[in-house]
Amino acid sequence: MPQDQNKIRVAEAALNYIEEDSVLGVGTGSTVNHLIDAIARERVRLDAAVSSSEESTRRLKERGIAVTDLNSAGQLSVYIDGADETDAHLRLIKGGGGALTREKIIAAASTQFVCIVDESKVVDVLGSFPLPVEVVPMARSYVARQLVGLGGRPEWRADFTTDNGNAILDVYNLDITDPVTLESTINQIAGVVTVGLFARRPADVLLIASDGGVKTKRR
Ligand code: 5RP
Repeated sequence: MPQDQNKIRVAEAALNYIEEDSVLGVGTGSTVNHLIDAIARERVRLDAAVSSSEESTRRLKERGIAVTDLNSAGQLSVYIDGADETDAHLRLIKGGGGALTREKIIAAASTQFVCIVDESKVVDVLGSFPLPVEVVPMARSYVARQLVGLGGRPEWRADFTTDNGNAILDVYNLDITDPVTLESTINQIAGVVTVGLFARRPADVLLIASDGGVKTKRR
C-alpha cells in the first residue's frame, strides 16, 4: 500500500483518541492534513482546535473547525501530531515541516500526546533524518559552529522562515544515541529557539500504520 494510504489510515485511527466537545491540539504535516480532513468528514464534534502552524490553521478553518489560542485553552487533554522519525521509546524527531516550536509547546501543554506515523518513520536509533533546529536569525552562524562542535553537519534551510520569523538549521550526522542529553545540550546553545528532538517529552501513544493495519504502542 502506498505511504499516502497508510497516512490516511493512521489519521483515521487517531479519531478514536479525540474527546467530543473538547479542545484538541493539532499538529502539522501531510499526516495531520489527513487527520483534519477526517475530523471534518466524520463530523467529529470539537469545541475548537489549538493549531501548531499557520498551515494547519488555514486547513482547519477551511473545513469549518474553530481555532483557538493556547493561552485561552489552558491544558489540553489530547494533542495529535505526526513525526519524521520515532524510536521504540516513542522519542521523536520532528520539524520536517518547520513547525517544531509550536509543536513542542502544544505537546508540553497536553496530557496525552498521540503520535501518528506510517511504518517508514520507525527507526532503531534516531538521526537518519536530519535534526531540525529553529534559531534566531542573527545567531544562525554561531549556532551552526556549535553544532559542528557536537559532530553535526548543519545546513541552513534557505528560503524558509518559520511561523515565528526564525531560521531552520537541518543537522546531519549527529550521534543521537542519547537523545535526552542531546536535546538539553542543544537547547542550551544561545540563539536556539527549539530543537526538533522530542525526547524529554516523548509521545504517550504511537500509532503506526503499515499494509497490515495500525499498531498501537504506549509508553
Ligand atoms: C512538522 C512535523 C511533522 O509532524 C513531520 O514533518 C511529519 O510530516 P508528515 O506527516 O508530512 O510526514 O514535525 O514540523
